[in-house]
Amino acid sequence: MKFGIISVAIAAILLSLGFSSVQAAEDKDVINYRQNLMKSLGAHAGALGAIAQNKVPFGANLALHADAIGAAADAALLAFKQDLPGGTSAANIWTDWDDFEGRFMALSAAAKDVAAAARSGGMAEAGPKMGGLFICKACHDKFRTE
Ligand code: HEC
Repeated sequence: MKFGIISVAIAAILLSLGFSSVQAAEDKDVINYRQNLMKSLGAHAGALGAIAQNKVPFGANLALHADAIGAAADAALLAFKQDLPGGTSAANIWTDWDDFEGRFMALSAAAKDVAAAARSGGMAEAGPKMGGLFICKACHDKFRTE
């Protein structure tokens, strides 16, 4: 009985917290979310680079890092669909959407290409295709505020 009252009270508190914070947190959460995806792009691109330059002996992970880059690019595209300047995102993302979207789609396609090549022929086959992944800076130059 006592338990019942306590859990009803907790549920009420959670509910009220939820209702009051959802609105305020939304924009910040969306920006955090897309920044986390971009960080994972950076992490996997770094891992891929270390393998490509033979700094680490983990060539067997090549395709997995390429998969992750493709997945992060696809996920980021959805996250950016919400017109929400903030973080270091420039407002022209949403006025020049086709260009912006095309770059993420190109990154995703290149990543899938690299992953397939890595699976069929390892570094020898994937290496020449990796250039298609390093389109990061061009997009940042055009679509970030710093
Ligand atoms: C289609 C455009 C586009 C492409 C392609 C792109 N980025 Fe970004 N990136 C952005 C934008 C826009 C932001 C700013 C996000 C924000 O703060 O809202 C960003 C932010 C970042 C950040 C900072 C995240 C943070 O914590 O604030 C990193 C790291 C990053 N990108 C890495 C990469 C890497 C690595 C690649 C290539 C493999 C890449 N990006 C490709 C548009 C792009």
